Amino acid sequence: MLVGVESDLLGDGLKRVQEEVDACFDAFLPVPADTRARLVEAMRYAAIGGGKRVRPLLVASTSEMFGVDRDAAIQTGTAIEAIHVYSLIHDDLPCMDDDDLRHGKPTLHHQFDEATAVLAGDALHALAFDMLADTATSTDPFVRSELIATLGTASGMNGMAGGQMMDIVADEEGVDYDLHAVTRLQQLKTGALLAASVEMGAILGKVPPEGRTHLRAYARDIGLAFQIADDLLDVEGDQDKAGKALRKDEAQGKQTFVTLMGADKAREQARALVDQAIAHLGSHGSEADMLRALARFIVERDR
Ligand code: IPE
Ligand code: IPE
Ligand code: MG
Ligand code: MG
Ligand code: MG
Repeated sequence: MLVGVESDLLGDGLKRVQEEVDACFDAFLPVPADTRARLVEAMRYAAIGGGKRVRPLLVASTSEMFGVDRDAAIQTGTAIEAIHVYSLIHDDLPCMDDDDLRHGKPTLHHQFDEATAVLAGDALHALAFDMLADTATSTDPFVRSELIATLGTASGMNGMAGGQMMDIVADEEGVDYDLHAVTRLQQLKTGALLAASVEMGAILGKVPPEGRTHLRAYARDIGLAFQIADDLLDVEGDQDKAGKALRKDEAQGKQTFVTLMGADKAREQARALVDQAIAHLGSHGSEADMLRALARFIVERDR
């Protein structure tokens, strides 16, 4: 459990980054005075307020260890969050998980309409790369291009979108995932963007690839633990706290660690992954405390 100093550290860190990410989205999303207004209002509806902002906090906490400017870290974290928000908008559509509630509010396609939800997702996807290509993210073009490549890979067929495909195919006849396949599904669907968040913090900090090995190991472990926690929440969570419909995975034929090994074993697995993640930070002192607190939060969270 998170206790005392650690929960203050994390609570303050999340609150601060939530405000900063909201302000960054606000600055990038002025509502135009023509018929595109509905698109931008929809983007703002989904992007501003609501999310925990775990990915931006991962970027900010990792990059802070290497002395990166805060504004650059926030713009980079907001770019990842733009991809995450777009993935949730599409994930909630009737053709995917068909959900009515997100962040305690009607999902975008209910508040607006399906076409607007598809376009808001598309435009947030594009916005992410615009944000990274901007010199406010880094004045070094090599850093900007590495950030763009990292987020592109983590979002596409070898990342989030690929994992979403595996997730959807899971309930089709003749498809029977074992633990190995579910691990891969989770690593792509959720782990890839979380891992990219840590990686992009290190890229901003100009940490060479050979210096990132332990950070990648940390990120891989928390990524998997994060989706196991989401799947446990689906089975055991409180819908009001989560702000989204729960108890849907089994009914929709999803394959998760919880459906495969049961809740107790899945929880044990998530906790073991978090311990392992924290052990990977052994070479760091107190500058890595936020990453440690975040790892614990990932399995203890109730939303
Ligand atoms: C939910 O992600 C979907 C998954 C990838 C598991 P988060 O739990 O990070 O969602 P928000 O943005 O905080 O609502
Ligand atoms: C979604 O996973 C992961 C994404 C890439 C969006 P879920 O479908 O389990 O996420 P929730 O439970 O709807 O937030
Ligand atoms: Mg889904
Ligand atoms: Mg869903
Ligand atoms: Mg879920």
